[in-house]
Amino acid sequence: MIKNLLKKDNLENLNAQNEEQELQELPRADLPRIILFTGKGGVGKTTVAAATAIKTSDLGKKTLIISTDPAHSLSDSFSVELKARPTKIKENLEGMEVNVEYELEKHWETIKDYLTIFFKSQGIDDVVAEELAIFPGFDELASLLHLLDFYQKKKYEVIILDCAPTGETLRLLSVPEIAKWYMNRFFGIEKKLLKIVKPIAEPLIDLPLPSEEVIDKIQDLYTKIGVLKEILESPQTTVRLVMNPEKMVIRESERAFTYLNLFGYRVDCIIINKVLPENAGAYFRKWIEIQKEYLRDIDERFPVPKFQLTFKSEEVVGEKLKDIANEIYRDKDPSEVFTISKPMRIEKDGDESLSLVIKAPFVDKSQLKVLKRGEELIVIAGQWKRILYLPQSLAMREPASAKFMSGELRIRFR
Ligand SMILES: Nc1ncnc2c1ncn2[C@@H]1O[C@H](COP(=O)(O)OP(=O)(O)OP(=O)(O)O)[C@@H](O)[C@H]1O
Ligand SMILES: [Mg+2]
Repeated sequence: MIKNLLKKDNLENLNAQNEEQELQELPRADLPRIILFTGKGGVGKTTVAAATAIKTSDLGKKTLIISTDPAHSLSDSFSVELKARPTKIKENLEGMEVNVEYELEKHWETIKDYLTIFFKSQGIDDVVAEELAIFPGFDELASLLHLLDFYQKKKYEVIILDCAPTGETLRLLSVPEIAKWYMNRFFGIEKKLLKIVKPIAEPLIDLPLPSEEVIDKIQDLYTKIGVLKEILESPQTTVRLVMNPEKMVIRESERAFTYLNLFGYRVDCIIINKVLPENAGAYFRKWIEIQKEYLRDIDERFPVPKFQLTFKSEEVVGEKLKDIANEIYRDKDPSEVFTISKPMRIEKDGDESLSLVIKAPFVDKSQLKVLKRGEELIVIAGQWKRILYLPQSLAMREPASAKFMSGELRIRFR
């Protein structure tokens, strides 16, 4: 049987299949490339996102940079006043800062009016009803709807998002999922059926049913959210985590890294910013040593390509962004996808147990060590070491067994 499987024809088929799979994993050149920048507050997300946009546009790619962080600072970074519509920054580069109030009005007003009436009919106080009718996470969704619009129009080759700090970005990236749930709950009624039922049912059930206009709006939003989710999970989109070699920053980034992976987003590289140069002076000697330790730590915790940017002696805005971009990416094109490998995933086994699957070099069982320390899992395979931040679903369980399968290490949790 095994012999059969290894016959030449079969092997060729397998190789072809693998190649095909890899090709599917690469972004398509005829569709816009989307890059999201996130990280802990103040690490340099806006600066790195802006520098990236300068470089892709210098390379001749039509680029749009969108700030989704309500505390906009892109304008300051470029020293150009940006608006709620794309504004020219330089050749091949436009930028915009999303205005949430305007978006809310545009996409949600009709639905909100209905929901307010609905909640009020249920005896909920007027003011509370209005608050409830504002869709949770709408401000984030507003930015994403813009992204969808620009993506579909194909006016830009690269779209860069300067996101809010990690916590909010994770929430933002889960909005499509939550929005679907919310809408199913509230509006899981067929439009056609509603048309027939509405005049008969309304007086009887004492519930205001949504008008056709409201249903249309909801359906439109629902479809858009579905498409958006597909785009964000497709190879066109990658997320880049910006961090500093500091304890608290690494901890927060680890959590983000784990959850981004589990939600199916692709983190294609990390950018380590504010690394002190060797010649920073005697005053920083100790800091330089501490940073070296954390750089090693980062190496063990983030199995994706890493770029570095040194701590500059002054603020990095305007003209200086170009040098920054060259220091980070050197001769590479920032719109490249730097890795397509997905470092971890969780799979449910038939019974109650869950398996964490990671890429790891093969070693003999005697050289494999798996230790769990609180929310961390330490995996040692001979000389190779990886520290993983565990998601809640695994942190509550204990590792029970481990085995290598097709280049992956599968750790079973009970
Ligand atoms: N490598 C660097 N050297 C010196 N200063 C830097 C460097 N990177 C960023 N800065 C400065 O640090 C400050 C914070 O940077 P930035 O606004 O890009 O961070 P952020 O992560 O976007 O912050 P926020 O979470 O508030 O959005 C800015 O004043 C910026 O000029
Ligand atoms: Mg910022």
